[in-house]
Amino acid sequence: MRTIRSAEQLTGYLQQYQPHPGGVLVPTMGALHQGHEALIRQAAHYAQQHNIPAGCVVTIFVNPTQFNEPQDYQRYPRTLEQDTIRCQNAGAKTIVAPTIEMVYPKGLDAPAPTLPAVAKDKGLEDQYRPGHFQGVAKVLQNLFTMLPPTAAIFGEKDYQQLLLAQALVRQLNLPIEILPGPTVRDHDALALSSRNRFLSGQQRLAASAIPQALRNAHDQPTIARAQAAMHDTLAHLSIEYATIRHAHTLETLPPDTPQDATCPRRAIIACRLGDTRLLDNAPWPLPPDSPLRNL
Ligand code: PAF
Repeated sequence: MRTIRSAEQLTGYLQQYQPHPGGVLVPTMGALHQGHEALIRQAAHYAQQHNIPAGCVVTIFVNPTQFNEPQDYQRYPRTLEQDTIRCQNAGAKTIVAPTIEMVYPKGLDAPAPTLPAVAKDKGLEDQYRPGHFQGVAKVLQNLFTMLPPTAAIFGEKDYQQLLLAQALVRQLNLPIEILPGPTVRDHDALALSSRNRFLSGQQRLAASAIPQALRNAHDQPTIARAQAAMHDTLAHLSIEYATIRHAHTLETLPPDTPQDATCPRRAIIACRLGDTRLLDNAPWPLPPDSPLRNL
């Protein structure tokens, strides 16, 4: 496995793996955990199955344009040494840890691509993190230009971001397959996240209400009842949203929509515990093989 950190190293690498030096890309901001390792394993497997010579490529770049608060950007953990070990163990072929100038050759203020509909006016991340998706769309466009991949994997935990990535490649007409990576959960089903490390012991215990809320929504007969069950379960946390949406468009649905309606639906939650925001989501109702059913 090699690590690329400079423009010179990148130039040599790009020549070697044209036309798809991005291989199967796993874009990350580092601070990798077992959830990322699962994405990297998935990418390495996909690359092998589809004979993609560049293999799994992991980008590690803390993207300044997607943070709402400067102190959040500053405190974001930078752990390249440990990340390298995780990438190696999970089967990555290359890490690209670029400088800001490599990712933003036209500067940080260059205009963002037009945001696809799934990333605006939904009252989800678009509302609670204004400007965030502009930054994500910018960095994805630039990463896909810098290292054109055959496919890229995005974790389902950041569900709206996954839909944004899928819509963005369609909008920009890029021949990149966007693959979802299943959420990896801790012993009590809390979704793994780089932010979990900021939780106090007490907050970590309280956070298990989040997967429990997805579980409790599952058996409810209508969207209204399922949303109420989620709010009840999360009553001790600071809820930003706990809602059930159309799984592809993120549009709201009538509250009396029954469990057995045909359109795909997703239960989506964002909560704050102190300064830490946690996200989770799952299909509603849960599929038969969901680990959340056993909570
Ligand atoms: O999910 C993340 O880690 C980031 O938003 C991403 C996709 C790497 C873009 O900076």
